[in-house]
Amino acid sequence: MERLQAAIEKARAQRKTRDVPGQRAAAATPAEPVLETTPSEVDQAWEALAPVKLQDRLMHRNRLVAFHEGKEAGPYDMLRTRMLQQARTNGWKRIAIVSPHSNCGKSTTAANLAFSMSRQPGLRALVLDLDLRRFGLSRMLGQRPDHGMIDVFSGEVSFASHGRRYEENVAFGFNGSATNRASEILQSSRTHDTLDAIEAVYQPAITLVDMPPLMASDDNFGFLQHVDAALIMVAAEKTSMTQLDVAERQVAELTNVMGMVLNKCRYTDGAYGYEYGYY
Ligand SMILES: Nc1ncnc2c1ncn2[C@@H]1O[C@H](COP(=O)(O)OP(=O)(O)OP(=O)(O)O)[C@@H](O)[C@H]1O
Ligand SMILES: [Mg+2]
Repeated sequence: MERLQAAIEKARAQRKTRDVPGQRAAAATPAEPVLETTPSEVDQAWEALAPVKLQDRLMHRNRLVAFHEGKEAGPYDMLRTRMLQQARTNGWKRIAIVSPHSNCGKSTTAANLAFSMSRQPGLRALVLDLDLRRFGLSRMLGQRPDHGMIDVFSGEVSFASHGRRYEENVAFGFNGSATNRASEILQSSRTHDTLDAIEAVYQPAITLVDMPPLMASDDNFGFLQHVDAALIMVAAEKTSMTQLDVAERQVAELTNVMGMVLNKCRYTDGAYGYEYGYY
């Protein structure tokens, strides 16, 4: 807790000198760690996270096909690998998963990518549910946490006690309650400082942020300039070209567009894997 508090203070001081809109998105190199953390302190921080308990039957029901290695996990493994390559090439670390409207598969993809990343040796990843008006990710994974990321941002609990580790190298930040103040929380500098501090302590190669739909609220608009890039999910036969265009333009004004995933395709020619188109 003390380490996180110190990291928050340091992040706040650093932010004052670099708080220019779009600067995070424009930076081609990773942000400086806000706190000197030795490799063994990072290892200890990961080991100290409580493990998440998952039920196999829920994984199947909720299309969490990457939970088990194999053919069904293939499209998510491919997406993982391409995302990691692109992130590495561009020095991107914090990636938001967004969509024009609801039900495009953001949370399903975030969870599947988490499982896929857990099989990547030497990789550490954070997967945070910042759809603060709901608790999609925790429900999907059968979790009933006492707290949520809003309590981490308010300082009521530390990420060290709230975060849940999957295998050795993936940590989830779930939501346990919903708030109507999501927009204000996601815009607040305390939230951004806390995220910087969590990343400084856990030093993930990548932080995936599961966001609410763009059209549902202004939650994304006060937050996306604090990620390095965004992956836009669209649903085949549901998302219109206009919705897709508007979403891409809105996201591009705030951060880098990493790519677009065409999800829920019933028919593919196999060129991009089983269900996904990705550019
Ligand atoms: N590739 C897929 N094929 C078929 N159904 C899918 C696929 N991916 C997700 N779904 C289903 O679509 C529904 C919505 O998925 P999910 O909750 O992940 O979307 P979301 O974008 O996070 O939604 P919201 O915007 O409401 O948070 C779920 O029932 C999920 O099982
Ligand atoms: Mg969701």
